[in-house]
Amino acid sequence: MARPRVFVTRELPGDALKRVAEYYEVEVWKEYTAPPYERLLEEAKRSDALVTLLTDRIDCRLIEESQPRLRIISQYAVGYDNIDVECATKHGVYVTNTPGVLTDATADLTWALILAITRRIVEADRYVRSGEWYRSGTGWHPMMMLGFEVTGKTLGVIGMGRIGRAVARRAKGFNMRIIYYDKRRLPKELEEELGAEYVDLETLLREADIVTLHTPLTKETYHMIGERELSLMKPTAYLINTSRGKVIDTDALVKALKEKKIAGAALDVFEEEPLPPDHPLTKLDNVVLTPHIGSATWQTRTRMADIVAENLIAFAKGEKPPTLVNPEVLNVRPPGFNL
Ligand code: GLV
Ligand code: GLV
Repeated sequence: MARPRVFVTRELPGDALKRVAEYYEVEVWKEYTAPPYERLLEEAKRSDALVTLLTDRIDCRLIEESQPRLRIISQYAVGYDNIDVECATKHGVYVTNTPGVLTDATADLTWALILAITRRIVEADRYVRSGEWYRSGTGWHPMMMLGFEVTGKTLGVIGMGRIGRAVARRAKGFNMRIIYYDKRRLPKELEEELGAEYVDLETLLREADIVTLHTPLTKETYHMIGERELSLMKPTAYLINTSRGKVIDTDALVKALKEKKIAGAALDVFEEEPLPPDHPLTKLDNVVLTPHIGSATWQTRTRMADIVAENLIAFAKGEKPPTLVNPEVLNVRPPGFNL
């Protein structure tokens, strides 16, 4: 049988695709921007496998129109809200993601944002570069660039999965009280190990000095943080988001920030990506903005590609892919191409 064809929607770091090429005919989209939907659809129809990013919309139409050929979608991300998984399962299409390897990188970025917003790092950098510090005529002033000290404060983690837990572990170094909310409570031993206390969402919002979001985007988490939730937060509290932009109602957040209902926000993800430069968030001083770089280290992005390769290769060998998102698909169709 001819080798199966995989269409990869962007270039990936490392040599993972070389290994994939031992089993597949690999076609890589070389442009920096995502393939337009119609082009993706066309490629999907003549592919046995796809490697996708969160910027690729894999809806039911695309999955249906690429039947019976398309068998596996290997997502280069931990989140997969861009894929209609239910539809994929129905059609016997395997969906895989890249969990685990990006946990530390994302937790590190979360901490970078927590410290950046509370200690006003980006604002301070602007202060130096713009010459304002120089023009102030003093090298040091007791009231210059005062921020908020996180040591000993309360960290509120919403979504205590792998990433939330890694963020909580780091908080121990700052001697923080850790409270968390998740739709499922952690086992007691894990709570003890993390030193984390389970509370309801309202209590978390009222008590936390730093609220940090680590939920996937689902129907339940869409706009989970809106006007009401923001109004429960302390006026001195900060909101951090490295999960998905749509978990926050951005208009409500902009309003809360403008009206100083909360002290600030640090955001790596947005409802609209890329964020337009004239977006109201860019006009505010009490926010730090980064361009969805939670997993963006050489080490992690390379390991994510390795996992994509492992999934594709396992599938080609007729084995269950190691990080399968929709295990129910095993009942619909066994893994492999020659069936
Ligand atoms: C990135 O946002 C991911 O889900 O991996
Ligand atoms: C210390 O050097 C300060 O400017 O806050």
